[in-house]
Amino acid sequence: MLIAPSLLSCDFSVMGQEIEIMDRSGADYMHLDVMDGHFVPNITFGAPVIKRVRKYTDKPFDVHLMISEPLKYIDDFADAGADIITFHIESDSDPWETINKIKSKGIKAGLVVKPKTPAKEVFPYLKDIDMVLVMTVEPGFGGQSFMADMMPKLAEIRKEAERINPNLLLEVDGGIGTDTIRQAYEAGADVAVAGTAVFKSEFPKKAISELKGLCK
Ligand code: DX5
Ligand code: ZN
Repeated sequence: MLIAPSLLSCDFSVMGQEIEIMDRSGADYMHLDVMDGHFVPNITFGAPVIKRVRKYTDKPFDVHLMISEPLKYIDDFADAGADIITFHIESDSDPWETINKIKSKGIKAGLVVKPKTPAKEVFPYLKDIDMVLVMTVEPGFGGQSFMADMMPKLAEIRKEAERINPNLLLEVDGGIGTDTIRQAYEAGADVAVAGTAVFKSEFPKKAISELKGLCK
């Protein structure tokens, strides 16, 4: 299992250092949660911040857009140094146009589904995308409880991807910790986002290796 610490739980006044700590602690990706206060009831940061912190690691930047009009901002996030951009299928932008725009920037494209959105909504796109992110909390805030009832959805997407696009990365986001990660792994996740579990731990390196150790 790859681990993507969510910077949403970091100390934003020293975001660069927090990224360096995660890099040294064995993080595989840096997960960056972009919220616009419209698609979700919270506001975080945008492309200028991502651009500034890009230099603190060589690890891939996994940018999760929780914004109403992702298509408008793909250039900005790609130019800021995103390696993967995921956006919500429930957003107002056309999925195909947005996927093609992301791919035209030479980076990986992914779709995100909120808890109430069924697996089949992403099926038409599986062949043409690199990642599906399944939310296991309602997007907007860190520190919420893992929704175990999303596991059949993960498994359903994994199964369809095996048929259509075996290289597809399946990511899970929300409430991941030592008590929940194994379920996500068994349901077919390859990448687990972890905010609270990693940042609120005194020893992030230990926290990340524990999470990985539970997925064997
Ligand atoms: C929620 C974000 C998550 C969040 C996860 O909208 O997409 O990435 O930071 O935080 P934890 O791991 O604390 O649930
Ligand atoms: Zn996220």
